[in-house]
Amino acid sequence: MADNAAELVSLTIDGVPLKVPKGTLLVEAAKQIKQEIPVYCYHTKLGPAGLCRVCLVEIEGTPKLQIACNTPVADGMVVRTQNAKVDAGRAMILELLLVNHPLDCPVCDKGGECDLQDYAMAYARGTSDLADPKTSKPKGVDLGPTIVLDEERCVVCQRCVRFDDIIVGDPQLVLKDRGVRDMIATASGDPYRHNFTGNVTELCPVGALTSKTYRFKSRPWDLDRTQTTCTQCSVGCQMFSDVRFGVPLRTMSVEHDDAISDGWLCDRGRYNIGFYDAKERITQPLYKRGDTFMQISWDDAFALWARAITDAIHLSGPQSVGTIGGGRLTNEEAYVAQYLFRALGVNNLDWRAGRQRQATPGSRGGTLADLERANAIVVLGDSPADRAPVLDLRIRKAVKRANATLVRVAPLDVSPVPSIDVVDVAQAAAALPATASSIAVVWDGIDAAAVERLLDALPENVTVRTYITSEQGNARGAETMGMHPRFAPGFAAAENGLDTEAMLAAASDGALAVLSIFGANPALRHPNGPLVRAALAKTPFVVVSELFMTESAKLATLVLPAKGAFEKNGTTLNATGDALPVNASLQAPEGVLSDLEMLVGLAEQLGVNLPAQEAVHAAVIEAIAQAPAFDLGDHAFRTRAAQAATIPADGLRVAVHSNVFAGDGTSAHDERIVALRPLAEALLSTDDAKVYGVSSGDRIDLEAGGLTLHNLSVAVRAGIARGTLVLVDGLATAPANSFAPGAVVRVVHVRKGDSTLVEA
Ligand code: SF4
Ligand code: SF4
Ligand code: FES
Repeated sequence: MADNAAELVSLTIDGVPLKVPKGTLLVEAAKQIKQEIPVYCYHTKLGPAGLCRVCLVEIEGTPKLQIACNTPVADGMVVRTQNAKVDAGRAMILELLLVNHPLDCPVCDKGGECDLQDYAMAYARGTSDLADPKTSKPKGVDLGPTIVLDEERCVVCQRCVRFDDIIVGDPQLVLKDRGVRDMIATASGDPYRHNFTGNVTELCPVGALTSKTYRFKSRPWDLDRTQTTCTQCSVGCQMFSDVRFGVPLRTMSVEHDDAISDGWLCDRGRYNIGFYDAKERITQPLYKRGDTFMQISWDDAFALWARAITDAIHLSGPQSVGTIGGGRLTNEEAYVAQYLFRALGVNNLDWRAGRQRQATPGSRGGTLADLERANAIVVLGDSPADRAPVLDLRIRKAVKRANATLVRVAPLDVSPVPSIDVVDVAQAAAALPATASSIAVVWDGIDAAAVERLLDALPENVTVRTYITSEQGNARGAETMGMHPRFAPGFAAAENGLDTEAMLAAASDGALAVLSIFGANPALRHPNGPLVRAALAKTPFVVVSELFMTESAKLATLVLPAKGAFEKNGTTLNATGDALPVNASLQAPEGVLSDLEMLVGLAEQLGVNLPAQEAVHAAVIEAIAQAPAFDLGDHAFRTRAAQAATIPADGLRVAVHSNVFAGDGTSAHDERIVALRPLAEALLSTDDAKVYGVSSGDRIDLEAGGLTLHNLSVAVRAGIARGTLVLVDGLATAPANSFAPGAVVRVVHVRKGDSTLVEA
């Protein structure tokens, strides 16, 4: 809140002298002497609104009480936050706020952590002069897929409204009507829906806005709270996991996590925790005999796995063994995985299972706070709002609050803030303001060469910082720990092995005997699904560690039940290189092991001595401290051939885009987020929609090379190139990777809105 941090102002609050930067608001200054001033409409991240008046304080020389949330400090100011006059003022405000407030604390989800309850106990009178009955208002209003509104409880602080406007930049919630009829609702009347809705339940100081997933589930004092890191994407937001009777009931943001989450969570991280107790969890190792899986013991699983590896190395050498270790692993697990396989002479190691190219941006990587300080931001490829949602809030903050210029070569970016949208990097470079001295480049799902061309086109005297919004939470950690065909931990040179692409190609040629896949689902996430399926079918022994029978697990020889992030301890490395703690808050189901425990079991069978826990810990810290040995220009990181830009003559070329709620195990098996999952959509340009005679809402069937996808919902969108059809990546119900990269598909059937089936 300080305008000028260098200039200090002296004042006294409750008799305590203090100095604070000029411009500091009284409500913030009081925190420095640990004096809490009650607030409803004020919030540190939203600023003052001056609506509720509960923050009254007495300022010497001022006849009337003043609001502390919107009064800046002044030199010599003498402030009293607690005396009879202040108490009487607050009591009056609370009496007004409680005029129509229902007496339903015993059944309100906010009970026990409600600011109205707390301040009423602290400042309000125990009685009311009101003789009229309370005005009743709608209760249990379904605002959208995540939030329920109880309007009677609303104190009209408008934090929710201002969150949408100031933080999200998508002002869906508004205050409708006035006075006693005021009501929180969406401006359009449509369901309240964006990637950050759950934050309003934390901002709401009362029980007016509650999460559907947590309603009537628990009292706060019955919850066991653990602080940990969200691993659902590469931002690594700090969060509290609140657990009751072994069930994760909710996650909450960590207010002071300024460096990473800025105090927010996206709805994927917040709500996608219902899979831990899903009945579909695998809880025993499964071994495939013929076409059928049978349950076996862990001892048998380790013995079979070890023998397959030993035999393969004995018969065909270590090059016949490969390992893909995805970003679901902790740093420690990724380190041990590469250690174990390299100890066996196996160099075919890679962390990539999907569309990633690299996860570490090299010497130009910036912090999340740097991102919001950039004068100009270029977004290339995937939408950060879907890849790394809370990182996207930093972009919105830079644009909305600091007037940064946003240039996008990302036709499907869903960020609602003003932007200059262009079609290639040359136009992006030209669109940047000549005065920009600090430029951030945020990218993924695009060829590194395009990023390189952009960087080459930028003036030399400009500070440039790059960010990669990797597909998996700990992609950067896995890469740094040496799950890589050319790099050992800390990017040290290693003997060359095969990368994921080459492993899959070798496997489909019958050259791999054992492929172990940890925390990754290439059958759904790799761009070339047919290649993955051929590769896994041809490999005699495929091991998959997973929580659920994913598309890859179904194709495995041995499926090992794995712990999720709330069930294990370790560390991760987020997109900006921050090492973050993963702390267990849940007991895994009986029979389920962490990937680390699996690797230890395998190492014992193979007779490999793994380093002790302390040595692993030290090695992880050392690896993180090393600078990467590459920058964006490392073309070996490309994993997918650049797609031809020509318009196909006889169909539509398939491209994909990310959606934060798509995905396999954790999202596909979580009933809490069913309503948030994306539709199986096919996105088309207006021109192609005319050519095929389709409009949004129609359904189409696609075919290429004998493979088909049925019943995709057409969505006609601006920004999609002619000749391109865009599918949602990683959607189990309609796998976009059914077609090989760059495949040209034919629209074989069209179902119009009236369900008429038309041959295309
Ligand atoms: S719903 Fe909650 S956050 Fe929104 S205005 Fe009402 S009290 Fe404030
Ligand atoms: S932005 Fe990423 S890390 Fe943060 S809450 Fe969302 S999914 Fe989790
Ligand atoms: S908190 Fe100061 S007016 Fe609301």
